[in-house]
Amino acid sequence: MTTGLAATAAKHLLLNMTSNGSGEGVFVVRGGEGPYVRDDDGTRYIDGLSGLYCCQLGHSYADEIAEAAGKQLRELSYSPLWSASAHPAAIELAERLAGLAPAGVEHAFFSSGGAEAVETAWKITRRYHALRGEPGRTKVLARHSAYHGLTVGALSFTDDPGLTEPYGPPAIDTRFVSNTNRHGLAPEMADDAVFTAHLLAEIEDTVLAEGPETIAMLIAEPVQNRGGCITPPEGYWPGLRALADRYGFLLVADEVITGFGRLGEWFGGDRYGAAPDLITVAKGITAGCAPMGATLVGQRVAEVVNRPGAVLNHGYTFGGHPLCAAISLRTIEIMERDQVLANVRALEGGLANGMKSLAGLPIVADVRGAGFFHAVQLAGDLPDGGFSDAARQALVVDLIPRRMRDAGLLARVYNRAAPLLQIAPPLISDRPLLDRIVEIIADTLDEASRALTR
Ligand SMILES: Cc1ncc(COP(=O)(O)O)c(C=O)c1O
Repeated sequence: MTTGLAATAAKHLLLNMTSNGSGEGVFVVRGGEGPYVRDDDGTRYIDGLSGLYCCQLGHSYADEIAEAAGKQLRELSYSPLWSASAHPAAIELAERLAGLAPAGVEHAFFSSGGAEAVETAWKITRRYHALRGEPGRTKVLARHSAYHGLTVGALSFTDDPGLTEPYGPPAIDTRFVSNTNRHGLAPEMADDAVFTAHLLAEIEDTVLAEGPETIAMLIAEPVQNRGGCITPPEGYWPGLRALADRYGFLLVADEVITGFGRLGEWFGGDRYGAAPDLITVAKGITAGCAPMGATLVGQRVAEVVNRPGAVLNHGYTFGGHPLCAAISLRTIEIMERDQVLANVRALEGGLANGMKSLAGLPIVADVRGAGFFHAVQLAGDLPDGGFSDAARQALVVDLIPRRMRDAGLLARVYNRAAPLLQIAPPLISDRPLLDRIVEIIADTLDEASRALTR
């Protein structure tokens, strides 16, 4: 049992997104190797969510990462990227990222995580419009059920009343448009061309209703996480680009989860023909080994915000920390050397087929995803597919997470209006491990289906 540490945690540690006073035990993760983690008792689990979509390399590269970290700390432990001062690790990483990013995206602004990267995108966007003589572009378009971080600015783009309402009105004026989830829509939306046209028309109508001269940017994930691994229809991202160009707003791809190989590419947007002005990354940029985020800036925007005399009056003490930058450089080196992206591309078809095979189970409403990133939307006991309180408690809160954990899998179960089960395994996972993940989910959902009385 984890009583010792769990008791100390209950006394002193405030967990994120947790009812800290509920008296529920804390699950203490003590160690990890490969795609597995170990709890305080030594029980091993598949790290089916890569921690929190971070551990692209699993937990096996500690010696190499530690070697890079030690070398950097011995050379330079800290120096800021502030007031025309920089250090080699950040400079080299910025160059490296420019080489991996889509053509024309050549600058990086570093931060300590995803929300900071998103807020940086917002501030750079504001600078861009102001310097071009359009300070009235103050509104953001984001998408329903989006999650872009929880700091006060990024929270404005996050569409979840449970997360936003306790903190009052949003800091940034945001309008939400549809995401690309077609589950439950009219049958004609199964056609990519029809669905894309429908989604783009809605965005265009919103822009026109608000006034194009008021729209600063549109932010979207290539595959939306929080709505449950929602992939875009064909033509959607090129359509977003065309709308951004037509109405003069900037297009921001939030790749905090989809970047660094999760979809088999350095940037998930590459898969969908995205040509964003700004890209936000974090999490996988260091494979979870150090806190880091970055906002990558396209040439067209950089030319404006870098105009002689223009000051980028924004910054974070630890943005681009030498330790984190050195770890990121080594992470990228390892991912290239060990062909981690190729592993995702080679195995994603099998994983997708395995996940799709769950579609016939009574408790499964929809299965979707790409790369090593998949979700199952759950169907409940009510005639409309929703869950009664009793079924929600018995299945979504209790049986499904418990059954998966007992079988040795850590995956995510979102207890939302439409509950979801989600996986994002380490990108070094092999086929037997992916098969085992699908098998555990299948057994779990089979048992849950049998417990479901409609
Ligand atoms: C798409 C997206 N953007 C931004 C964030 C915020 O990142 P962080 O928690 O590092 O601030 C997250 C976190 O999960 C995310 O999924």
